[in-house]
Amino acid sequence: NEVYLQGLGDQLPPFTTDATKLEAVAEEAMEPGPFGYVAGGAGSGDTMRANRDAFARWRIVPRMLCDATTRDTSVTVLGTSMPAPILLAPIGVQSIVHPDGELATARAASALGVPMVLSTASSYALEDVAEANGDGPRWFQLYWPNEDAVCVSLLERAKAAGYTALVVTLDTWTLAWRPRDLDQAYLPFLRGIGVANAFSDPAFLAGLEKSPAEDQGMAVLRWVSLFTGTDKSWDRLSFLRSHWDGPIVLKGIQHVVDARRAADAGMDGIVVSNHGGRQVDGAIGSLEVLPEIAAAVGDQVSVLFDSGVRTGADVFKALALGASAVLVGRPYVYGLALGGEAGVRHAVRSLLADFDLTLGLAGARCPDDLGLGSVRLSA
Ligand code: FNR
Repeated sequence: NEVYLQGLGDQLPPFTTDATKLEAVAEEAMEPGPFGYVAGGAGSGDTMRANRDAFARWRIVPRMLCDATTRDTSVTVLGTSMPAPILLAPIGVQSIVHPDGELATARAASALGVPMVLSTASSYALEDVAEANGDGPRWFQLYWPNEDAVCVSLLERAKAAGYTALVVTLDTWTLAWRPRDLDQAYLPFLRGIGVANAFSDPAFLAGLEKSPAEDQGMAVLRWVSLFTGTDKSWDRLSFLRSHWDGPIVLKGIQHVVDARRAADAGMDGIVVSNHGGRQVDGAIGSLEVLPEIAAAVGDQVSVLFDSGVRTGADVFKALALGASAVLVGRPYVYGLALGGEAGVRHAVRSLLADFDLTLGLAGARCPDDLGLGSVRLSA
């Protein structure tokens, strides 16, 4: 209501409320390197397009006279209650778009009560982000290090700092072919952004021959190399389980067989995600695989979704197709770039308001009202 009434009155928003225009608006304001890094995808960008195309194919079928004037968009997922089924996706190196980076995101998320998922590649230490986030709900995303001591240390720090669920990203065991970064020689990791959780980690520092102060370049390379290559397997998930007593969510699931394996491995949740089209070029749109995965494992694990969510209608469609909540990525980063904490708040609040109105106008009072009957695949 508040957002809508502001729109009807004389208070202009800080930037567009049209999430589909946000990228173009952000491009005007951002440096080409950081913009390309955020906006870019793997290879030709085909998977990013497939993500959006998949949303366009599903259409909402509105219902009338449902008395949806009073709505409750809140949900509880894996023990975390949230005002709407929307979380902020883990996005690394946020200080490349705004100096306040993850601290601003944490404050905005907390003000709205929306959970944030903090990336391993954060540009601020996870304890500092937790402090900025205060009482807000927060989860920690793990890029699974090759060194067990560093892994355990990160998990213990995250637990101590109040991150309640662990999101393990499986699809980025090496960085994809990303022409926009390569063309501009722009890789934030190699510039030493996104190393805050390393340089504040006793186990990581103990494994270095020279401290970051003596040889920063080497320390950065060592950190990056911890996530490259893989000694990981489905069996090794038990290692994470033995060091994390909260919910564990596997992020990057696209195949129904992998979804079943996650459930069989005793995981609590999955994120059906293709990393916003940043890893495998030419991949299937993430929303296309959601219905079969939700049907296969939805009664055993919490099924979350991301990749391509931009509008309230998108959130509606993902929920109708079986997601219990969605993660949103680039839109809030553009908000951060355009206006720091206030920018994140505006971008996320707009999405919350849009979802609430779409829900009601389609005749639903709460997320639980949505199901396969709420949408239809268009020809
Ligand atoms: C990401 N993503 C990501 N995922 C992750 O698990 N850890 C990370 O550090 C990052 N970093 C990151 C940086 C940038 C600039 C982007 C755009 C994305 C992926 C992210 O969590 C999410 O899966 C996608 O962003 C979702 O797609 P949309 O909403 O951006 O289309």
